[in-house]
Amino acid sequence: MTTASLSHTLLTWYDRHARKLPWRVSPEDGKMGEVPDPYRVWLSEIMLQQTTVAAVKDYFQKFTASWPTVELLAAADEEDVMKAWAGLGYYSRARNLKKCAELVAHEHGGKFPEAEDALLKLPGIGPYTAAAIAAIAFNRPAAVVDGNVERVLTRLKQIETPLPDAKPEIRDAMAGLTPHDRPGDFAQAVMDLGATICTPRRPACGLCPWMNDCEVQNSNLAETLPRKAPKKEKPTRYGAAFVAVDRKTGAVLLRRRPPKGLLGGMTEVPGTEWSETFDPARAAGQAPFAGAWKKCTSEVKHTFTHFHLRLTVFRTDTEDAVLSKVGGAWWSPTASLEDEALPTVMRKVVSAALR
Ligand code: ADE
Repeated sequence: MTTASLSHTLLTWYDRHARKLPWRVSPEDGKMGEVPDPYRVWLSEIMLQQTTVAAVKDYFQKFTASWPTVELLAAADEEDVMKAWAGLGYYSRARNLKKCAELVAHEHGGKFPEAEDALLKLPGIGPYTAAAIAAIAFNRPAAVVDGNVERVLTRLKQIETPLPDAKPEIRDAMAGLTPHDRPGDFAQAVMDLGATICTPRRPACGLCPWMNDCEVQNSNLAETLPRKAPKKEKPTRYGAAFVAVDRKTGAVLLRRRPPKGLLGGMTEVPGTEWSETFDPARAAGQAPFAGAWKKCTSEVKHTFTHFHLRLTVFRTDTEDAVLSKVGGAWWSPTASLEDEALPTVMRKVVSAALR
């Protein structure tokens, strides 16, 4: 099949099977002239980096309900944005999101630029996101390549070069297939195909609109693609976290992390440094104030991009007066813990201590 008919085949499939997603203009509505809102496309694409559609949906609804336009997000309180983002991970994305909204609102008259190179200059927008916004929001024929697209195209074209070396080949293949009409729908069609049919395990080749054109269709080879260069083992770091609970009210003592670095600006319970050589046996000596600290039975495990973390959790039931001993800390009542800018690892710590 020619590339034009391959693209056409997939778009026809998409017209029937496109997933209904809150940031998406459905193919029917697109044909009736509805156009996507670039703000919603941008927001969804930033949220979807490193995260699944299922995990993003509720966050997307919450953000667009609180801040329906880029101007309103630009004017939002940064702390409120971090709170709304808490749990989505990769928190630099939230800070860049806010910066990007401010730039678009104040320096671009509230309109996102349409070209990939102009989009690339904005904070938090890399090559993938620039291409996705150009194609989906502005109907520009950009080659959009995410993990789903990599999987679909390495199979379709039997690309056996391991990632990341295969990236240029995959990008060229996507550029060759992307049609000039409906490039945004095409990109999303490949993503949907990857998410629903051309899955990592047990792809449903029998249902695939590209079945007859796929170089590895129905073979054992499909599941082995894309090949990946072996990953480096992640090291494990250790540390301790200290949960102080107000004896009378049940409130939990929290503080803010430094603005830069991992989980920068997010909220945490007081804790030690995290390192490979940390000795849990010496943890109790590093509590934020002297008290009857009890070790909780369960350790908290969490995995970040570059390391695994194991935290020993301590708890003490204490009184209000300790606040003066921990700089910049505050008591968070149990009812409002959920609304704090607590990253997932800290939510695990608090649960381990309150259990
Ligand atoms: N993953 C990232 N962006 C997406 C989109 N627009 N549609 C479906 N899956 C996606």
